[in-house]
Formats: sequence, C-alpha cells, structure tokens
Amino acid sequence: MIYRKKIVAGNWKMNKTQAEARVLVEDILREVGKFDEAEIVLCPPFTALSAVSELLSPVPNVRLGAQNLHEAPSGAYTGEISAGMLRELYVRYVIIGHSERRQFFHEDNATVNRKTKAALAAELRPIVCVGETLPERESGKWKNVLETQLREGFVGFGEKELSDIIIAYEPVWAIGTGKTASPAQAEEAHQWIRQVLSTRFSQNVSERIRIQYGGSVKPENAKELLSKPDIDGALVGGASLDARGFTAIVKNACLP
Ligand code: 13P
Repeated sequence: MIYRKKIVAGNWKMNKTQAEARVLVEDILREVGKFDEAEIVLCPPFTALSAVSELLSPVPNVRLGAQNLHEAPSGAYTGEISAGMLRELYVRYVIIGHSERRQFFHEDNATVNRKTKAALAAELRPIVCVGETLPERESGKWKNVLETQLREGFVGFGEKELSDIIIAYEPVWAIGTGKTASPAQAEEAHQWIRQVLSTRFSQNVSERIRIQYGGSVKPENAKELLSKPDIDGALVGGASLDARGFTAIVKNACLP
C-alpha cells in the first residue's frame, strides 16, 4: 500500500480582507502551526496573498495557495494574474477549474488544461477540481462526466506532470449546500477517478496521486470522509473561514 500524506486546503473564495486574513491565519497557526500529520494549504483571495505569505514564511507545514491564475505569462489581460506573479509571493499551490470558475466564468476542460500547464511550468502545484452537477448524478452520467473532465483536462500530460497534480473531487451539488456526499458516494467517485487515471496513464499514477474531497466538509463529517481509503484530504470552503472549524477538520480528520 502506497502512503499518501493527507492534504487539507482552505478555499476562502471571495472572503476576507487583508486585515481579516491576518487574524484568521494567526488563529489557525496557534492551533496547527506545528501539526505535522497533514499538509495544510490556505488559499486566500489574491489581495490577501502577500499578507498571508508573510505570516506563513516561518511555518513549514502550512503552505500558501491561490484560487486561480491566467494561463499566459504576461500581457494585455486586464484583471488577470500570472503564475510568475504568484510565485513571487511564495505561492505553492493553485486551484484550477473550480466549479464556480466553470459555472460563472465559462471555464471548460480546455481552459483547465492550459492553466494546469501554465502552473506546472512555473512549478506551482495545481489542485485540479472535477465534479458532476445534480442532474448529471441523478441521470447516472456522473462517471462519464468525471472521465471527460480528466481526459480533456489532462490532454498532453504524462506521468511526470501527473505526479505534481492534486485532484479535488467536488460534486457541484454538495458545494455550499450543506448536502455532503456520503462517505460511500465520495469513496466510489474517488475509486472511479483512480480507475480512469490507471487506464489513461498508469497504475503507478493512480495509486500515488492525492485526491481531496470537497463539498460541505465540516468538523462533524470530516473524520468519516477522510477515513475512507481513497480520500486523501479535503478542499474546504465555508468551514475554512473559521479558525476553530478549519483546525478541527485538520485535527479530526488527520490524527490516526
Ligand atoms: P463548501 O465547503 O462551502 O461546500 O465549499 C466547497 C468548495 O467549493 C471548496 O472549494
């Protein structure tokens, strides 16, 4: 059995000013600043990256992540941020293809592919989000949807690229709805993702890659979800905005 270190990331979405971010990070660090059983990633909005980066610089186990990037290295793309700009702030991870980006900003699998390439070229570790909508789940199409997202999102990639990628399975119907996938449903989807990767790449890739679950993760359900063999961590939205909730998820879920 291959050991995969758990990875818990907080996706703050469009929340927290710089001042609020500082308070939240200080509170989080008081609880888990020395916690070594999991990798912890904080993904504040762009405007708070610099402040959070400063606070995290002496802390080896809590890393900085961004929520998005533009695929081009520079140029006339008003309002956008490049991988190099993120690197300069010591960002290590970047969320790509979140369902809110797909839904509200019309990103598709081809966009995800280009952004993931840009992140990898800058040595940022992409957290690539996949997941089906409620109608896709209810009509029994969820396996096809995930397979297409993975196949098109990872076009042109090989084992080397995949070894730096983290996947987040986020069923769209469970995001911000309070409706969590049951541990059994999430485990089944994670197993399917590994099966697709095993066919498309190799068994080695499918066994090594870390797959986070995201969608209404809370302190109360984190332990059960993360105790499933194919669930390697969580991508937490709402509950990551509260230090006590987020650190409880990290501790509950990741202590043996
Ligand atoms: P919630 O935890 O608020 O459901 O959000 C999940 C998510 O979208 C994380 O990226």
